[in-house]
Amino acid sequence: MSLSLRLLALLVAAPTFAQTLDDRHLSILPTDADTRAALVASLLPPDDPDRLAAAESLPGGTLTVPFTTKDDAFSQPSAGLTEDRLHSFNRGNGLFRKLWIAAPSEIPASDGLGPVYNARSCQACHLKDGRGHAPEGPTDDSISMVLRLSRPGGDTPEGITEWIATQPDPINGGQLQDFAAPGQMAEGRLSITYTGTPVTLADSTTVSLRAPSYALADPAFGPPADDLQMSPRIAPQMIGLGLLEAIPAADILALADPDDSNHDGISGRPQIVPSVAYGVPMLGRFGLKAGAATIRDQTAAALSMDMGLSNPLYPDPWGDCTDRQTACRTAPHGQGGDGLEVDDERLDMLTFYARNLGVPARRGADDTTVLQGKVLFTATGCAACHQPSFVTLSLTDQPEQSAQAIWPYTDLLLHDMGPSLADNRPEGRASGSEWRTPPLWGVGLTETVSGHTQFLHDGRARNLLEAILWHGGEAQAQRDAVAAMTTEDRAALLAFVGSL
Ligand code: HEC
Ligand code: HEC
Repeated sequence: MSLSLRLLALLVAAPTFAQTLDDRHLSILPTDADTRAALVASLLPPDDPDRLAAAESLPGGTLTVPFTTKDDAFSQPSAGLTEDRLHSFNRGNGLFRKLWIAAPSEIPASDGLGPVYNARSCQACHLKDGRGHAPEGPTDDSISMVLRLSRPGGDTPEGITEWIATQPDPINGGQLQDFAAPGQMAEGRLSITYTGTPVTLADSTTVSLRAPSYALADPAFGPPADDLQMSPRIAPQMIGLGLLEAIPAADILALADPDDSNHDGISGRPQIVPSVAYGVPMLGRFGLKAGAATIRDQTAAALSMDMGLSNPLYPDPWGDCTDRQTACRTAPHGQGGDGLEVDDERLDMLTFYARNLGVPARRGADDTTVLQGKVLFTATGCAACHQPSFVTLSLTDQPEQSAQAIWPYTDLLLHDMGPSLADNRPEGRASGSEWRTPPLWGVGLTETVSGHTQFLHDGRARNLLEAILWHGGEAQAQRDAVAAMTTEDRAALLAFVGSL
Protein backbone atom coordinates (compact mmCIF):
# COMPACT_ATOMS: atom_id res chain seq x y z
CA MET A 1 0.00 0.00 0.00
CA SER A 2 1.28 3.49 -0.77
CA LEU A 3 1.84 5.93 2.05
CA SER A 4 -1.16 8.07 1.21
CA LEU A 5 -3.36 4.97 1.03
CA ARG A 6 -2.00 3.90 4.40
CA LEU A 7 -2.78 7.26 5.87
CA LEU A 8 -6.30 6.97 4.55
CA ALA A 9 -6.62 3.43 5.93
CA LEU A 10 -5.43 4.76 9.29
CA LEU A 11 -8.10 7.41 9.37
CA VAL A 12 -10.88 5.08 8.23
CA ALA A 13 -10.01 2.04 10.32
CA ALA A 14 -9.03 3.81 13.50
CA PRO A 15 -11.13 6.85 14.20
CA THR A 16 -9.74 7.24 17.69
CA PHE A 17 -6.38 6.46 19.13
CA ALA A 18 -7.68 5.75 22.56
CA GLN A 19 -6.03 2.89 24.34
CA THR A 20 -7.30 -0.31 22.76
CA LEU A 21 -7.36 -3.71 24.37
CA ASP A 22 -4.27 -4.66 22.43
CA ASP A 23 -2.21 -1.66 23.45
CA ARG A 24 -3.10 -1.76 27.14
CA HIS A 25 0.43 -2.60 28.27
CA LEU A 26 1.62 0.81 27.10
CA SER A 27 0.96 4.19 28.72
CA ILE A 28 -0.41 5.95 25.68
CA LEU A 29 -0.86 9.72 25.59
CA PRO A 30 -4.49 10.41 24.76
CA THR A 31 -4.41 11.64 21.18
CA ASP A 32 -7.33 12.36 18.88
CA ALA A 33 -7.40 11.20 15.26
CA ASP A 34 -6.53 14.63 13.82
CA THR A 35 -3.49 15.08 16.05
CA ARG A 36 -2.34 11.58 15.24
CA ALA A 37 -2.79 12.13 11.48
CA ALA A 38 -0.84 15.39 11.74
CA LEU A 39 1.97 13.61 13.59
CA VAL A 40 2.13 10.84 10.96
CA ALA A 41 2.09 13.38 8.13
CA SER A 42 4.87 15.41 9.74
CA LEU A 43 7.13 12.40 10.30
CA LEU A 44 6.41 10.68 6.99
CA PRO A 45 5.41 13.50 4.62
CA PRO A 46 3.94 11.64 1.61
CA ASP A 47 4.86 14.32 -0.94
CA ASP A 48 8.35 15.19 0.31
CA PRO A 49 10.67 12.53 -1.17
CA ASP A 50 13.81 14.11 0.32
CA ARG A 51 12.52 14.02 3.88
CA LEU A 52 11.12 10.52 3.35
CA ALA A 53 14.51 9.33 2.09
CA ALA A 54 16.21 10.92 5.10
CA ALA A 55 13.75 9.18 7.45
CA GLU A 56 14.22 5.88 5.65
CA SER A 57 17.97 5.88 6.17
CA LEU A 58 17.31 5.98 9.95
CA PRO A 59 15.10 2.87 10.33
CA GLY A 60 14.79 3.15 14.12
CA GLY A 61 13.78 6.82 14.07
CA THR A 62 15.79 9.06 16.36
CA LEU A 63 16.78 5.94 18.34
CA THR A 64 18.76 4.66 15.37
CA VAL A 65 22.34 3.83 16.31
CA PRO A 66 25.30 4.38 13.99
CA PHE A 67 26.14 1.18 12.14
CA THR A 68 29.44 -0.47 12.86
CA THR A 69 31.24 -3.17 10.95
CA LYS A 70 32.03 -4.95 14.22
CA ASP A 71 30.08 -7.89 15.56
CA ASP A 72 28.49 -5.76 18.28
CA ALA A 73 26.40 -3.90 15.68
CA PHE A 74 23.15 -5.23 17.27
CA SER A 75 24.26 -4.80 20.88
CA GLN A 76 24.05 -1.01 21.18
CA PRO A 77 21.47 0.63 23.44
CA SER A 78 18.84 2.79 21.70
CA ALA A 79 20.23 6.25 21.10
CA GLY A 80 18.99 8.82 23.63
CA LEU A 81 18.69 6.69 26.78
CA THR A 82 19.10 8.86 29.88
CA GLU A 83 21.83 7.88 32.32
CA ASP A 84 19.34 6.17 34.62
CA ARG A 85 17.81 4.20 31.82
CA LEU A 86 21.21 3.29 30.44
CA HIS A 87 21.94 1.85 33.86
CA SER A 88 18.81 -0.33 33.66
CA PHE A 89 19.84 -1.39 30.14
CA ASN A 90 23.28 -2.43 31.40
CA ARG A 91 21.81 -4.42 34.28
CA GLY A 92 19.43 -6.12 31.82
CA ASN A 93 22.40 -6.83 29.56
CA GLY A 94 24.15 -8.54 32.47
CA LEU A 95 21.11 -10.78 33.01
CA PHE A 96 20.86 -11.50 29.27
CA ARG A 97 24.44 -12.77 29.32
CA LYS A 98 24.32 -14.46 32.76
CA LEU A 99 25.23 -18.14 32.76
CA TRP A 100 22.69 -19.86 35.02
CA ILE A 101 23.71 -22.79 37.22
CA ALA A 102 21.70 -25.87 38.19
CA ALA A 103 20.45 -25.97 41.80
CA PRO A 104 21.76 -26.33 44.41
CA SER A 105 24.44 -23.79 43.55
CA GLU A 106 26.54 -21.58 45.79
CA ILE A 107 25.60 -18.43 43.94
CA PRO A 108 21.95 -17.69 44.75
CA ALA A 109 21.73 -15.03 42.02
CA SER A 110 22.53 -17.62 39.33
CA ASP A 111 20.74 -20.58 40.86
CA GLY A 112 17.95 -22.63 39.34
CA LEU A 113 18.84 -23.60 35.75
CA GLY A 114 16.70 -26.46 34.45
CA PRO A 115 16.34 -29.23 35.54
CA VAL A 116 15.97 -29.60 31.76
CA TYR A 117 16.95 -26.71 29.49
CA ASN A 118 18.05 -25.63 26.02
CA ALA A 119 20.76 -23.13 26.92
CA ARG A 120 22.36 -21.55 30.00
CA SER A 121 21.85 -17.93 28.95
CA CYS A 122 19.66 -15.81 26.68
CA GLN A 123 22.79 -14.77 24.82
CA ALA A 124 23.70 -18.40 24.00
CA CYS A 125 20.80 -18.42 21.51
CA HIS A 126 20.52 -14.74 20.61
CA LEU A 127 24.27 -14.68 19.94
CA LYS A 128 25.56 -11.08 19.97
CA ASP A 129 21.86 -10.07 20.06
CA GLY A 130 21.67 -11.48 16.55
CA ARG A 131 19.99 -14.58 15.20
CA GLY A 132 20.79 -18.22 15.88
CA HIS A 133 21.72 -20.81 13.31
CA ALA A 134 21.00 -24.39 12.37
CA PRO A 135 23.74 -26.82 13.39
CA GLU A 136 26.45 -27.08 10.73
CA GLY A 137 27.02 -30.79 10.33
CA PRO A 138 26.64 -33.63 12.85
CA THR A 139 29.32 -32.37 15.25
CA ASP A 140 27.84 -28.87 15.74
CA ASP A 141 25.31 -28.32 18.56
CA SER A 142 21.79 -27.05 18.03
CA ILE A 143 21.86 -24.61 20.97
CA SER A 144 20.46 -21.59 19.15
CA MET A 145 17.70 -23.62 17.50
CA VAL A 146 14.76 -25.08 19.39
CA LEU A 147 12.16 -27.69 18.57
CA ARG A 148 8.67 -26.66 19.71
CA LEU A 149 6.28 -29.54 20.32
CA SER A 150 2.52 -30.04 20.52
CA ARG A 151 -0.30 -32.46 19.86
CA PRO A 152 -3.75 -31.72 18.40
CA GLY A 153 -6.54 -31.09 20.94
CA GLY A 154 -6.84 -28.98 24.08
CA ASP A 155 -8.84 -25.91 25.01
CA THR A 156 -9.63 -22.69 23.18
CA PRO A 157 -8.96 -19.59 25.29
CA GLU A 158 -11.97 -17.47 26.06
CA GLY A 159 -12.69 -14.61 23.68
CA ILE A 160 -10.49 -15.77 20.77
CA THR A 161 -12.04 -16.95 17.51
CA GLU A 162 -10.41 -19.12 14.80
CA TRP A 163 -8.13 -20.66 17.43
CA ILE A 164 -6.59 -23.97 16.33
CA ALA A 165 -6.54 -26.10 19.47
CA THR A 166 -3.24 -27.73 20.35
CA GLN A 167 -1.79 -28.87 23.66
CA PRO A 168 1.73 -29.51 24.89
CA ASP A 169 3.07 -32.99 24.20
CA PRO A 170 2.23 -35.03 27.33
CA ILE A 171 5.69 -36.66 27.19
CA ASN A 172 8.09 -33.74 26.60
CA GLY A 173 5.93 -30.62 27.03
CA GLY A 174 5.92 -27.62 24.72
CA GLN A 175 9.56 -27.84 23.66
CA LEU A 176 12.31 -30.43 23.41
CA GLN A 177 14.98 -29.68 26.02
CA ASP A 178 18.24 -31.24 24.90
CA PHE A 179 20.27 -30.49 28.04
CA ALA A 180 19.75 -31.49 31.68
CA ALA A 181 21.19 -30.76 35.12
CA PRO A 182 23.58 -33.35 36.60
CA GLY A 183 21.65 -36.51 37.44
CA GLN A 184 18.72 -35.56 35.19
CA MET A 185 17.90 -36.83 31.71
CA ALA A 186 17.78 -34.57 28.65
CA GLU A 187 14.65 -35.26 26.61
CA GLY A 188 16.33 -36.10 23.33
CA ARG A 189 17.93 -34.30 20.46
CA LEU A 190 16.97 -32.64 17.23
CA SER A 191 18.23 -34.46 14.15
CA ILE A 192 18.31 -32.70 10.78
CA THR A 193 19.03 -34.02 7.31
CA TYR A 194 19.17 -31.83 4.21
CA THR A 195 18.36 -32.75 0.61
CA GLY A 196 19.59 -30.49 -2.19
CA THR A 197 16.87 -29.19 -4.54
CA PRO A 198 18.21 -27.44 -7.65
CA VAL A 199 16.32 -24.40 -8.96
CA THR A 200 17.15 -22.77 -12.30
CA LEU A 201 16.40 -19.05 -12.67
CA ALA A 202 15.43 -17.27 -15.89
CA ASP A 203 19.02 -16.04 -16.46
CA SER A 204 20.23 -19.69 -16.22
CA THR A 205 21.75 -19.26 -12.75
CA THR A 206 21.31 -22.45 -10.75
CA VAL A 207 20.67 -22.32 -7.00
CA SER A 208 20.61 -25.43 -4.84
CA LEU A 209 18.12 -25.01 -2.02
CA ARG A 210 18.62 -27.32 0.96
CA ALA A 211 15.32 -28.88 2.07
CA PRO A 212 15.50 -29.94 5.72
CA SER A 213 13.81 -32.87 7.37
CA TYR A 214 13.54 -33.06 11.15
CA ALA A 215 13.27 -35.88 13.67
CA LEU A 216 13.30 -36.21 17.42
CA ALA A 217 16.29 -38.50 18.03
CA ASP A 218 17.27 -40.42 21.18
CA PRO A 219 13.96 -39.82 23.00
CA ALA A 220 14.66 -40.42 26.70
CA PHE A 221 11.04 -40.59 27.91
CA GLY A 222 9.54 -42.88 25.27
CA PRO A 223 8.96 -42.81 21.51
CA PRO A 224 7.31 -39.69 20.05
CA ALA A 225 3.57 -39.97 19.38
CA ASP A 226 2.46 -40.43 15.75
CA ASP A 227 0.57 -37.14 15.80
CA LEU A 228 3.42 -35.16 17.40
CA GLN A 229 3.73 -31.69 15.80
CA MET A 230 7.27 -30.32 15.62
CA SER A 231 8.37 -26.77 14.82
CA PRO A 232 12.10 -26.08 14.48
CA ARG A 233 12.98 -22.40 15.07
CA ILE A 234 16.18 -20.43 15.21
CA ALA A 235 16.41 -17.52 17.65
CA PRO A 236 15.57 -14.22 15.89
CA GLN A 237 17.66 -11.04 16.06
CA MET A 238 16.85 -8.74 19.00
CA ILE A 239 17.01 -5.20 17.53
CA GLY A 240 14.14 -2.69 17.55
CA LEU A 241 11.70 -4.87 19.50
CA GLY A 242 10.43 -2.00 21.68
CA LEU A 243 9.55 -0.06 18.55
CA LEU A 244 7.58 -3.01 17.13
CA GLU A 245 5.75 -3.22 20.46
CA ALA A 246 4.83 0.47 20.18
CA ILE A 247 3.17 0.28 16.74
CA PRO A 248 -0.53 1.03 17.24
CA ALA A 249 -2.47 -2.26 17.10
CA ALA A 250 -5.02 -0.41 14.96
CA ASP A 251 -2.40 0.25 12.27
CA ILE A 252 -1.46 -3.43 12.11
CA LEU A 253 -5.10 -4.53 12.07
CA ALA A 254 -5.77 -2.02 9.26
CA LEU A 255 -3.31 -3.94 7.05
CA ALA A 256 -5.04 -7.30 7.60
CA ASP A 257 -7.04 -8.59 4.68
CA PRO A 258 -8.05 -12.11 5.77
CA ASP A 259 -10.41 -12.67 2.82
CA ASP A 260 -8.10 -11.01 0.30
CA SER A 261 -10.79 -8.50 -0.62
CA ASN A 262 -8.31 -6.44 -2.69
CA HIS A 263 -7.48 -9.59 -4.75
CA ASP A 264 -3.72 -9.16 -4.62
CA GLY A 265 -3.27 -12.80 -3.55
CA ILE A 266 -2.05 -11.64 -0.15
CA SER A 267 -4.29 -11.91 2.89
CA GLY A 268 -2.51 -11.30 6.20
CA ARG A 269 -4.23 -12.30 9.43
CA PRO A 270 -3.64 -10.97 12.90
CA GLN A 271 -2.49 -13.42 15.56
CA ILE A 272 -4.54 -13.03 18.76
CA VAL A 273 -3.18 -14.69 21.90
CA PRO A 274 -3.93 -14.60 25.61
CA SER A 275 -1.28 -12.40 27.21
CA VAL A 276 -0.02 -14.13 30.35
CA ALA A 277 1.25 -10.77 31.63
CA TYR A 278 -2.06 -8.92 31.17
CA GLY A 279 -4.59 -11.77 31.38
CA VAL A 280 -6.53 -10.72 28.28
CA PRO A 281 -6.49 -11.61 24.57
CA MET A 282 -4.08 -9.30 22.75
CA LEU A 283 -2.55 -8.86 19.31
CA GLY A 284 0.38 -11.30 18.96
CA ARG A 285 3.59 -9.61 17.72
CA PHE A 286 6.61 -11.59 18.92
CA GLY A 287 7.88 -15.04 18.04
CA LEU A 288 7.94 -16.56 14.59
CA LYS A 289 4.19 -17.17 14.57
CA ALA A 290 3.54 -14.05 16.65
CA GLY A 291 2.64 -16.27 19.62
CA ALA A 292 3.52 -13.65 22.24
CA ALA A 293 1.76 -10.30 22.70
CA THR A 294 4.45 -8.37 24.56
CA ILE A 295 8.19 -8.48 25.15
CA ARG A 296 7.50 -9.22 28.82
CA ASP A 297 5.36 -12.25 27.84
CA GLN A 298 8.06 -13.53 25.48
CA THR A 299 10.86 -12.98 28.00
CA ALA A 300 9.01 -14.77 30.81
CA ALA A 301 8.20 -17.69 28.50
CA ALA A 302 11.88 -17.89 27.44
CA LEU A 303 13.03 -17.98 31.07
CA SER A 304 10.69 -20.89 31.82
CA MET A 305 10.78 -22.81 28.55
CA ASP A 306 14.38 -22.35 27.38
CA MET A 307 16.17 -22.27 30.74
CA GLY A 308 13.76 -23.77 33.30
CA LEU A 309 13.71 -20.59 35.44
CA SER A 310 10.59 -19.75 37.46
CA ASN A 311 9.37 -16.16 37.29
CA PRO A 312 6.23 -14.17 38.15
CA LEU A 313 4.41 -15.27 34.97
CA TYR A 314 5.59 -18.91 34.98
CA PRO A 315 6.07 -19.84 38.65
CA ASP A 316 6.80 -23.57 38.15
CA PRO A 317 10.46 -24.13 39.11
CA TRP A 318 10.68 -27.17 36.84
CA GLY A 319 9.94 -25.16 33.70
CA ASP A 320 8.65 -27.32 30.85
CA CYS A 321 8.94 -30.75 32.58
CA THR A 322 5.73 -32.79 32.31
CA ASP A 323 4.26 -34.87 35.13
CA ARG A 324 5.74 -37.96 33.49
CA GLN A 325 9.22 -36.58 34.23
CA THR A 326 9.09 -37.26 37.95
CA ALA A 327 12.81 -36.87 38.71
CA CYS A 328 12.71 -33.43 37.11
CA ARG A 329 9.59 -32.39 39.02
CA THR A 330 11.15 -33.32 42.37
CA ALA A 331 14.67 -31.94 41.75
CA PRO A 332 16.05 -29.10 43.95
CA HIS A 333 15.10 -25.55 42.93
CA GLY A 334 16.96 -22.25 42.80
CA GLN A 335 16.98 -19.60 45.54
CA GLY A 336 15.96 -16.28 44.04
CA GLY A 337 13.90 -13.39 45.49
CA ASP A 338 10.17 -13.80 46.27
CA GLY A 339 10.48 -17.60 46.11
CA LEU A 340 11.18 -17.33 42.37
CA GLU A 341 14.36 -18.05 40.47
CA VAL A 342 13.84 -14.77 38.58
CA ASP A 343 11.82 -12.16 40.48
CA ASP A 344 9.72 -9.31 39.16
CA GLU A 345 12.55 -6.78 39.24
CA ARG A 346 14.87 -8.97 37.19
CA LEU A 347 12.09 -9.79 34.71
CA ASP A 348 11.56 -6.03 34.32
CA MET A 349 15.25 -5.42 33.65
CA LEU A 350 15.43 -8.15 31.03
CA THR A 351 12.30 -6.75 29.38
CA PHE A 352 13.77 -3.25 29.40
CA TYR A 353 16.95 -4.54 27.80
CA ALA A 354 15.07 -6.46 25.09
CA ARG A 355 13.02 -3.34 24.36
CA ASN A 356 16.00 -1.09 23.89
CA LEU A 357 18.47 -2.67 21.51
CA GLY A 358 19.05 -0.03 18.85
CA VAL A 359 18.46 -0.48 15.13
CA PRO A 360 21.61 0.38 13.14
CA ALA A 361 21.51 3.04 10.43
CA ARG A 362 21.31 1.83 6.83
CA ARG A 363 24.42 1.54 4.70
CA GLY A 364 24.41 3.04 1.19
CA ALA A 365 20.70 3.88 1.20
CA ASP A 366 21.19 6.43 -1.58
CA ASP A 367 23.40 4.25 -3.77
CA THR A 368 22.00 4.07 -7.35
CA THR A 369 21.73 0.27 -7.42
CA VAL A 370 20.10 0.23 -3.98
CA LEU A 371 17.55 2.81 -5.11
CA GLN A 372 16.81 0.72 -8.22
CA GLY A 373 16.31 -2.29 -5.93
CA LYS A 374 13.95 -0.29 -3.73
CA VAL A 375 11.70 0.40 -6.71
CA LEU A 376 11.75 -3.32 -7.58
CA PHE A 377 10.97 -4.27 -3.95
CA THR A 378 7.73 -2.31 -4.12
CA ALA A 379 6.90 -3.10 -7.76
CA THR A 380 7.36 -6.84 -7.14
CA GLY A 381 4.97 -6.74 -4.19
CA CYS A 382 7.44 -7.52 -1.39
CA ALA A 383 6.20 -4.44 0.49
CA ALA A 384 2.68 -5.90 0.65
CA CYS A 385 3.90 -8.03 3.57
CA HIS A 386 7.24 -6.42 4.40
CA GLN A 387 5.40 -3.15 5.19
CA PRO A 388 8.08 -0.46 5.06
CA SER A 389 7.06 2.11 7.67
CA PHE A 390 4.95 2.93 10.71
CA VAL A 391 4.70 5.72 13.26
CA THR A 392 4.75 4.50 16.85
CA LEU A 393 2.31 5.59 19.54
CA SER A 394 2.88 8.66 21.70
CA LEU A 395 3.89 7.18 25.05
CA THR A 396 4.27 8.78 28.46
CA ASP A 397 6.78 6.44 30.11
CA GLN A 398 8.81 5.22 27.13
CA PRO A 399 10.25 8.39 25.60
CA GLU A 400 12.64 6.30 23.50
CA GLN A 401 9.84 4.52 21.64
CA SER A 402 7.39 7.41 21.56
CA ALA A 403 6.19 8.96 18.26
CA GLN A 404 8.95 7.57 16.08
CA ALA A 405 8.86 7.04 12.31
CA ILE A 406 10.26 3.53 11.87
CA TRP A 407 11.10 1.33 8.88
CA PRO A 408 10.94 -2.30 10.03
CA TYR A 409 9.67 -3.88 6.75
CA THR A 410 7.09 -6.08 8.44
CA ASP A 411 3.31 -5.96 8.86
CA LEU A 412 3.58 -8.29 11.92
CA LEU A 413 0.74 -10.32 10.35
CA LEU A 414 0.52 -14.03 9.59
CA HIS A 415 0.85 -15.20 6.00
CA ASP A 416 0.46 -18.61 4.42
CA MET A 417 3.91 -19.29 2.97
CA GLY A 418 3.02 -22.55 1.23
CA PRO A 419 3.72 -26.23 1.90
CA SER A 420 7.53 -26.11 1.52
CA LEU A 421 7.97 -23.71 4.45
CA ALA A 422 5.14 -25.25 6.52
CA ASP A 423 6.03 -26.77 9.89
CA ASN A 424 2.52 -28.25 10.09
CA ARG A 425 2.35 -27.19 13.73
CA PRO A 426 -0.42 -24.66 14.36
CA GLU A 427 0.10 -22.07 17.10
CA GLY A 428 -2.85 -20.02 18.33
CA ARG A 429 -4.62 -18.80 15.21
CA ALA A 430 -1.62 -19.48 12.96
CA SER A 431 -1.96 -22.56 10.80
CA GLY A 432 0.84 -25.02 10.09
CA SER A 433 1.84 -23.04 7.00
CA GLU A 434 1.49 -19.49 8.35
CA TRP A 435 4.39 -17.39 9.64
CA ARG A 436 4.69 -13.83 10.90
CA THR A 437 6.40 -11.54 8.38
CA PRO A 438 9.83 -11.02 9.95
CA PRO A 439 11.24 -7.49 10.12
CA LEU A 440 13.95 -6.96 7.50
CA TRP A 441 15.80 -4.14 9.29
CA GLY A 442 19.32 -5.26 10.04
CA VAL A 443 19.25 -8.34 7.74
CA GLY A 444 22.15 -6.90 5.77
CA LEU A 445 24.30 -6.95 8.92
CA THR A 446 23.66 -10.63 9.69
CA GLU A 447 27.06 -11.77 8.48
CA THR A 448 28.82 -8.98 10.39
CA VAL A 449 27.07 -9.85 13.66
CA SER A 450 26.62 -13.60 13.40
CA GLY A 451 29.31 -14.73 10.97
CA HIS A 452 26.73 -16.51 8.82
CA THR A 453 23.86 -15.65 6.51
CA GLN A 454 21.20 -18.15 7.52
CA PHE A 455 17.64 -16.93 7.11
CA LEU A 456 14.02 -18.05 7.57
CA HIS A 457 12.46 -19.65 10.65
CA ASP A 458 14.82 -22.63 10.64
CA GLY A 459 17.91 -21.13 9.03
CA ARG A 460 17.55 -23.31 5.93
CA ALA A 461 18.30 -20.41 3.56
CA ARG A 462 22.04 -19.76 3.29
CA ASN A 463 21.73 -16.29 1.77
CA LEU A 464 19.10 -13.67 0.94
CA LEU A 465 18.38 -15.08 -2.52
CA GLU A 466 17.68 -18.55 -1.13
CA ALA A 467 15.36 -16.96 1.47
CA ILE A 468 13.34 -15.32 -1.30
CA LEU A 469 13.25 -18.48 -3.44
CA TRP A 470 11.71 -20.43 -0.54
CA HIS A 471 8.71 -18.01 -0.48
CA GLY A 472 5.51 -19.76 -1.62
CA GLY A 473 1.79 -19.63 -0.84
CA GLU A 474 0.67 -16.00 -0.66
CA ALA A 475 4.17 -14.93 -1.81
CA GLN A 476 4.42 -17.36 -4.76
CA ALA A 477 3.94 -14.57 -7.35
CA GLN A 478 6.69 -12.45 -5.77
CA ARG A 479 9.04 -15.43 -5.63
CA ASP A 480 8.34 -16.24 -9.29
CA ALA A 481 8.91 -12.61 -10.26
CA VAL A 482 12.37 -12.72 -8.65
CA ALA A 483 13.18 -16.03 -10.38
CA ALA A 484 12.21 -14.37 -13.69
CA MET A 485 14.30 -11.20 -13.16
CA THR A 486 17.31 -10.21 -15.22
CA THR A 487 20.65 -10.71 -13.49
CA GLU A 488 20.95 -6.95 -13.05
CA ASP A 489 17.50 -6.46 -11.51
CA ARG A 490 17.98 -9.34 -9.12
CA ALA A 491 21.33 -7.94 -8.00
CA ALA A 492 19.69 -4.54 -7.41
CA LEU A 493 16.85 -6.08 -5.36
CA LEU A 494 19.37 -7.99 -3.24
CA ALA A 495 21.50 -4.86 -2.82
CA PHE A 496 18.45 -3.03 -1.47
CA VAL A 497 17.55 -5.81 0.99
CA GLY A 498 21.21 -6.00 2.01
CA SER A 499 21.22 -2.27 2.76
CA LEU A 500 18.43 -2.63 5.34
C1 HEC B 1 17.32 -21.97 23.48
C2 HEC B 1 17.41 -20.78 22.71
C3 HEC B 1 16.83 -19.50 23.29
C4 HEC B 1 17.09 -18.93 24.51
C5 HEC B 1 17.95 -19.47 25.64
C6 HEC B 1 16.35 -17.69 24.54
N1 HEC B 1 15.69 -17.50 23.36
FE1 HEC B 1 14.58 -15.88 22.87
N2 HEC B 1 13.98 -16.82 21.20
C7 HEC B 1 14.38 -18.08 20.78
C8 HEC B 1 13.54 -18.54 19.70
C9 HEC B 1 13.63 -19.87 18.97
C10 HEC B 1 12.59 -17.51 19.48
C11 HEC B 1 11.39 -17.55 18.54
C12 HEC B 1 10.26 -18.02 19.45
C13 HEC B 1 8.97 -18.41 18.79
O1 HEC B 1 8.86 -18.41 17.59
O2 HEC B 1 8.02 -18.65 19.55
C14 HEC B 1 12.92 -16.44 20.43
C15 HEC B 1 12.26 -15.21 20.50
C16 HEC B 1 12.55 -14.20 21.38
C17 HEC B 1 11.96 -12.89 21.38
C18 HEC B 1 10.99 -12.36 20.34
C19 HEC B 1 11.75 -11.78 19.17
C20 HEC B 1 10.91 -11.47 17.97
O3 HEC B 1 11.46 -10.97 16.97
O4 HEC B 1 9.73 -11.72 17.96
C21 HEC B 1 12.45 -12.22 22.47
C22 HEC B 1 12.10 -10.80 22.91
C23 HEC B 1 13.34 -13.12 23.14
N3 HEC B 1 13.39 -14.31 22.46
C24 HEC B 1 13.99 -12.81 24.31
C25 HEC B 1 14.73 -13.74 25.03
C26 HEC B 1 15.23 -13.51 26.37
C27 HEC B 1 15.07 -12.23 27.16
C28 HEC B 1 15.86 -14.65 26.75
C29 HEC B 1 16.48 -14.98 28.08
C30 HEC B 1 15.56 -14.87 29.20
C31 HEC B 1 15.77 -15.59 25.63
N4 HEC B 1 15.06 -15.00 24.63
C32 HEC B 1 16.33 -16.84 25.64
C33 HEC B 1 15.42 -18.81 21.32
C34 HEC B 1 15.94 -18.60 22.58
C1 HEC C 1 2.91 -12.95 1.55
C2 HEC C 1 3.81 -12.18 2.37
C3 HEC C 1 5.24 -12.00 1.89
C4 HEC C 1 5.67 -11.49 0.69
C5 HEC C 1 4.85 -11.00 -0.48
C6 HEC C 1 7.11 -11.50 0.77
N1 HEC C 1 7.52 -11.99 1.98
FE1 HEC C 1 9.44 -12.21 2.59
N2 HEC C 1 8.79 -13.23 4.21
C7 HEC C 1 7.48 -13.44 4.58
C8 HEC C 1 7.42 -14.35 5.69
C9 HEC C 1 6.16 -14.79 6.41
C10 HEC C 1 8.74 -14.75 5.95
C11 HEC C 1 9.21 -15.75 7.01
C12 HEC C 1 9.11 -17.17 6.44
C13 HEC C 1 9.80 -18.21 7.28
O1 HEC C 1 10.54 -17.88 8.21
O2 HEC C 1 9.62 -19.41 6.99
C14 HEC C 1 9.58 -13.98 5.03
C15 HEC C 1 10.99 -14.00 5.05
C16 HEC C 1 11.78 -13.18 4.26
C17 HEC C 1 13.21 -13.04 4.39
C18 HEC C 1 14.07 -13.70 5.45
C19 HEC C 1 14.06 -12.85 6.69
C20 HEC C 1 14.66 -13.49 7.90
O3 HEC C 1 14.85 -12.77 8.90
O4 HEC C 1 14.95 -14.68 7.92
C21 HEC C 1 13.62 -12.16 3.41
C22 HEC C 1 15.03 -11.70 3.15
C23 HEC C 1 12.44 -11.78 2.66
N3 HEC C 1 11.34 -12.40 3.22
C24 HEC C 1 12.45 -10.93 1.58
C25 HEC C 1 11.36 -10.78 0.72
C26 HEC C 1 11.42 -10.17 -0.59
C27 HEC C 1 12.64 -9.54 -1.21
C28 HEC C 1 10.15 -10.25 -1.12
C29 HEC C 1 9.69 -9.85 -2.50
C30 HEC C 1 10.34 -10.55 -3.60
C31 HEC C 1 9.31 -10.88 -0.12
N4 HEC C 1 10.07 -11.21 0.97
C32 HEC C 1 7.96 -11.08 -0.25
C33 HEC C 1 6.38 -12.86 3.98
C34 HEC C 1 6.40 -12.31 2.68
